[in-house]
Amino acid sequence: MGGMDLPDVSLPDRGVPRAELFADLRTRKTADADWRGGRTWSLVYPAGEDVDAVLKEANNLYLYENALNPFRFPSLADMEREVVAMTAGLLSAPAGASGSMTSGGTESIMQAIRVARDRAKAERGVTDPTLVVPRSAHPAFAKGAKYFGLELVHIPLADDLRADVNAAAELIDDRTALVAGSAPNYPHGVVDPIPELAALAAARDIPFHTDACVGGFLLPFMQDAPPFDFRVPGVTTMSADMHKYGYATKGASVLLHRNGDHVLQYQAFLYQDWPGGLYGSLALAGARPAAPIAAAWSVMRYLGTDGYTRLVNRILATATKIRAELTDLDLTTLGNPVASVIAFTAPEIMPIGDRLDDLGWHLDRQNHPDALHLMISPEHDRVIDTFLADLRTATANPGTSRGTEARYS
Ligand SMILES: Cc1ncc(COP(=O)(O)O)c(C=O)c1O
Repeated sequence: MGGMDLPDVSLPDRGVPRAELFADLRTRKTADADWRGGRTWSLVYPAGEDVDAVLKEANNLYLYENALNPFRFPSLADMEREVVAMTAGLLSAPAGASGSMTSGGTESIMQAIRVARDRAKAERGVTDPTLVVPRSAHPAFAKGAKYFGLELVHIPLADDLRADVNAAAELIDDRTALVAGSAPNYPHGVVDPIPELAALAAARDIPFHTDACVGGFLLPFMQDAPPFDFRVPGVTTMSADMHKYGYATKGASVLLHRNGDHVLQYQAFLYQDWPGGLYGSLALAGARPAAPIAAAWSVMRYLGTDGYTRLVNRILATATKIRAELTDLDLTTLGNPVASVIAFTAPEIMPIGDRLDDLGWHLDRQNHPDALHLMISPEHDRVIDTFLADLRTATANPGTSRGTEARYS
């Protein structure tokens, strides 16, 4: 995150000519990570030039529209509903389920928290709610708890780095507005024991959220995915990010409710106590970009089940190669990651990350324990052999440690 001091810059007196402007932009961009070259292992999820072309065309077609008003732009409202319906199908949502697109995983999770808080108050009279999530849950949960006034309660992790179910049983009580688990989580790529956690919640009539922001478009295309979706009794809401492994451009996630009535009853904001007429919105934002909706719709239709399956298989093949190499190099994989996320450690892991930095690779750092973190994209199979050769070099000849602070991207 940059500093908060503002740069000494003001609006130019005269507009900058286009050629100069874009020369400047291109120069600035050279400072950024080379994700197209497969050098980054999170943040962007490249799926190939053909997918790129689809995304560019869809984004271009819908650069200017505003998804706030479904009556002015019915094509957007239709595409959003179709994206939600296709996602609901993938996640085995039952008849009667519904949902909306959001700006990303964080918004999907925050909306699920807000809805659960309001339900807890309306349906069970809970006025000092808690949010019970595994310690490995994404910071979006802590953010939601902070924004919406819930107390965050962490479930400790068991030895396999999944949420400890026995501990969870002790932490869930009448104040609990929502219990959640990840499928998979960001730090270790493991899937929490969703059926057991959801059953604990359901026993007290408490909603349960599966955070499938990472896995929502991976696990449905895998043979041996652990149970995580609406087939699990007690799962009431789910988040799945189009802008991760759905391969849409940024600004696209889906929030699903098992009980579709909750969308209007709890998620929607409707207002008419002003001179501007009825205002309705399902999102945290007011005006909403149209391009992420068009891009998400287009890439889902373009890829289809066979396209997603092909891309997942490329990821799994790369993951298998990486895990084999980690074993060979005596580097320890944390937990048993199911798909695209791998965290690994060694007694002196950070200097290995530093050497990898010198060699042009950007791996995130983690703590507790110190570890390096990879999120594999389909296109990584083009660079995996070079990466593994560099990992061998870095392990044999680590850098001088530049510190062990964890860095999230
Ligand atoms: C498991 C998980 N949940 C939620 C999120 C939040 O998603 P976003 O960054 O789109 O807000 C992430 C982001 O990496 C994640 O890994």
